[in-house]
Amino acid sequence: MAAQENRILLKNVDQPGYTVDIDCYTKHGGYETLKKALAMKPDEIRLEVKASGLRGRGGAGFPCGVKWHDLVDRKSGNPIYLICNCDESEPGTFKDRQLVHKDPHQLIEGMIISAYANDVSLAFLYIREEMPRGAQILEEAIEEARQKGFVGNNIAGSDFSCEIVVHRGGGAYICGEETGLIESLEGKRAYPRIKPPFFPAAKGLYMCPTIVNNVETLCNVVHIIGMGSAAYSKIGRPNNTGTRIWCVSGLVQKPGYYEIESMTMKELLYDICGGPLPGRKFKAVVPGGGSMKILDVNETYKDREGKEFSFDEIMVDYDGIAAAGSMSGSSGMMVMDDSVDIPEALGNLMAFYAHESCGQCTPCREGSLWT
Ligand SMILES: Cc1cc2nc3c(=O)[nH]c(=O)nc-3n(C[C@H](O)[C@H](O)[C@H](O)COP(=O)(O)O)c2cc1C
Repeated sequence: MAAQENRILLKNVDQPGYTVDIDCYTKHGGYETLKKALAMKPDEIRLEVKASGLRGRGGAGFPCGVKWHDLVDRKSGNPIYLICNCDESEPGTFKDRQLVHKDPHQLIEGMIISAYANDVSLAFLYIREEMPRGAQILEEAIEEARQKGFVGNNIAGSDFSCEIVVHRGGGAYICGEETGLIESLEGKRAYPRIKPPFFPAAKGLYMCPTIVNNVETLCNVVHIIGMGSAAYSKIGRPNNTGTRIWCVSGLVQKPGYYEIESMTMKELLYDICGGPLPGRKFKAVVPGGGSMKILDVNETYKDREGKEFSFDEIMVDYDGIAAAGSMSGSSGMMVMDDSVDIPEALGNLMAFYAHESCGQCTPCREGSLWT
């Protein structure tokens, strides 16, 4: 049977009137999970997220529940901040934009649940400057949610209060890196901070413990709490749980964004994306956004145990793409066929990094020939 999408986060995005219409969102069960969450204890929610196996969708794939668990100084009395990273600056990535434009309340619900779970009363939504419509949609949706009592004081009649501030980003690639983002949010140039000591969990925004999570990661929290971690962790495969939204661009019949569980490269590129253009053959794929290592379709790959597998057999998820020597990154998959001059294509990508390097760290500055 041909592989298919499994739309969980994208389930409702094509409902008429879904964007910035809270009534439509609530009619389809929206904010019910928030009410469920508010009846739980914050640490129960954190344990659920940890048990779900959810890995960050922003780039590194760090387990979300571990990040939340490791938050330093939870009891210090310092405020804890939550930042939603909606910078989406990695070339080839356009999934967060879809979630923001087409289902903003899902993100707001995920942020408020995550804020409640982590004792956060002020959360920030950092959205890149080049997404002005997205920022407007979010501001309108937050206002709608505030009117209905899902953002602000005494959320859904509870004693929990939380505000969300939309902050338009600095308009540079490096603003997506979490510590650069924090600098930018503080009104400074987005030079990344040195880790250690400036891990956001310890010394983040205004030197207070801070959680930075990607848009898609935070949207997943709604579904983990909604269905429970036991059900969620059965989706996908172990260590790669849940679905992921892949942004497929380039020379395939049906480029687009697809929400899938782990499947092979062949299933994604042929069953879902319709295969190569007429008369063409696939040549290479950049699997996880412009900064990820390119994969040659004719190469034989070897996993850590020495087992060989073909390009078609690569599992499209964190571990599968890592086993082939690259990274799933921000799930921006750029497909090239035999009409493409690979050095020219990679030269084009390098020109982006040379222009966008902030110039602070030597490997990137010198390696990209910073311009
Ligand atoms: C150069 C660079 C750019 C990045 N850009 C983004 C971005 O645009 N969006 C994002 O969510 N994460 C980006 N990241 C990853 C963030 O630093 C951070 O790990 C992520 O927001 C954490 O969220 P997650 O755990 O939910 O994935 C970038 C990292 C680097 C090094």
